[in-house]
Amino acid sequence: MSLRNCRTVKVLNVSPIGQSKTAGEFFELTLERPDWGGWKPGQFVMIRPTAWDLDMVWGRPFSICSGDDASVTLFIQAVGRGTRRIAALEPGDKVSMWGPLGNSFAVEPDTPTLLLAGGIGIAPFRGYVEQHPHPENLSLFLAHRLPLDCYPFELMSRTVPSRCMLEAKPSDLDCIIETMRGLIEEFAGKGGLVLSCGPTPFMRTVQRFAKEYGARAQVSLENRMACGVGACLGCVIKDGEGHHVQVCTRGPVFWADQVEI
Ligand SMILES: Cc1cc2nc3c(=O)[nH]c(=O)nc-3n(C[C@H](O)[C@H](O)[C@H](O)COP(=O)(O)OP(=O)(O)OC[C@H]3O[C@@H](n4cnc5c(N)ncnc54)[C@H](O)[C@@H]3O)c2cc1C
Ligand code: FES
Repeated sequence: MSLRNCRTVKVLNVSPIGQSKTAGEFFELTLERPDWGGWKPGQFVMIRPTAWDLDMVWGRPFSICSGDDASVTLFIQAVGRGTRRIAALEPGDKVSMWGPLGNSFAVEPDTPTLLLAGGIGIAPFRGYVEQHPHPENLSLFLAHRLPLDCYPFELMSRTVPSRCMLEAKPSDLDCIIETMRGLIEEFAGKGGLVLSCGPTPFMRTVQRFAKEYGARAQVSLENRMACGVGACLGCVIKDGEGHHVQVCTRGPVFWADQVEI
């Protein structure tokens, strides 16, 4: 990626989402859209608020959730020092943003496509649903731990048949895994496509059932990233042949049978 893809943009809006216990835990961050040619769902940006100065050197990666001609929206869960400071940004603050980075999810307009999201992993699917030429061929399943109103689920369920399951206690996880098994088996049976994004154990479950039922499945990986552009080797994983590959440039989306998770 060349330096021309790094821009300083203004924060347009920061909106807390939902009623989770910690104020500001989930929020939407809307930034000015640089003069990008375009972006595809599954791609991400690295952002670094200008005010971080030398305090935190590396930016933080986030999926592009949504966007229009004037803005880019990210859907963020505050989990640590960087994301908590991003949650405290205000309109007018400046942010360095580079992207769009990485590859994107497969789009097969006429294929029944299952979107499997674990928690914050729902973020790239909002853009996927918005850009898909035939959203009637999509189905969404969300497994979540925090209240449903923390996620853009209702918005998406207006467009695509959607299901969600709350993991409130350990036995709920067994039900979620069995539901995922059933869905992956069903979509494999009808020659469908399975796209998934979520925490690593969630991705491993998708990979396991995709193998078991012969489903064509993609997983989006959220490895820790420092540079986001292939230079630091901080995000390396092994591909299906045991070769080291960078998640930021070769991913973040991989076919489930072509990566070690
Ligand atoms: C391609 C990609 C897309 C992503 N998209 C989103 C998104 O749309 N929305 C969103 O909220 N988050 C997303 N993430 C995760 C997000 O980048 C991390 O939550 C963030 O970098 C944490 O920064 P921090 O300084 O707050 O946390 P730190 O202080 O660095 O860490 C605090 C906690 O966050 C965990 N953490 C740190 N980095 C990651 C990571 N990369 N993935 C998962 N957990 C991490 C740590 O294990 C620790 O528990 C994405 C990550 C990648 C690689
Ligand atoms: S984050 Fe630096 S190589 Fe991928």
